[in-house]
Amino acid sequence: MPTEIPRRTVLAAAGGVAAIAAVPVTLTVIDATAAPAAGSSTVDVTLTVNGTVYRRTMEARVTLLDALREQLGLTGTKKGCDRGECGACTVIADGRRIKSCLTLAAMRNGSEITTVEGLADGDDLHPVQAAFVEHDAFQCGFCTSGQIMSAVALIEEGHTGSDDEIRDWMSGNLCRCGAYPGIVAAVREAAP
Ligand code: FES
Ligand code: FES
Repeated sequence: MPTEIPRRTVLAAAGGVAAIAAVPVTLTVIDATAAPAAGSSTVDVTLTVNGTVYRRTMEARVTLLDALREQLGLTGTKKGCDRGECGACTVIADGRRIKSCLTLAAMRNGSEITTVEGLADGDDLHPVQAAFVEHDAFQCGFCTSGQIMSAVALIEEGHTGSDDEIRDWMSGNLCRCGAYPGIVAAVREAAP
């Protein structure tokens, strides 16, 4: 049989619930004001880029792309989409091509990175760079450093058996200028 609860009791209980509910809100505010001071989320990162060792302290959320461009001044690696779609940011990390906008610099701590700045030997272009020039494999050039880094890795990977294979394995690098025929020709020429 249901027990009758006086209205006053219900209201008092509700007030208690409201008071309890208010506690976490208050705590949340206190927590927010006690958040770590700016800079305490930084990490020390060591990267070897094109043979030079760089040590930097940076926010943990910094991508490898932003670290290269903004902290190391290596702006040859381009930021296109900044979300893994265009390939403009391609670099080689520990022997594998990656999209540097999708990787945190902290995750690459201790890695060896090669960017487009590291390909030429003084005034002598890397064979892939020379082939891109030879075959007019660019127009505006914005995608080109990513295309070249991808091509260098692709040749190492051995995916140059045919033009179709080259196209398949270069498909992560987009070119808004449509320089694809020249790109494929350049990769074909640079391949052994
Ligand atoms: Fe990284 Fe587009 S900028 S894939
Ligand atoms: Fe312009 Fe590729 S050369 S986007």
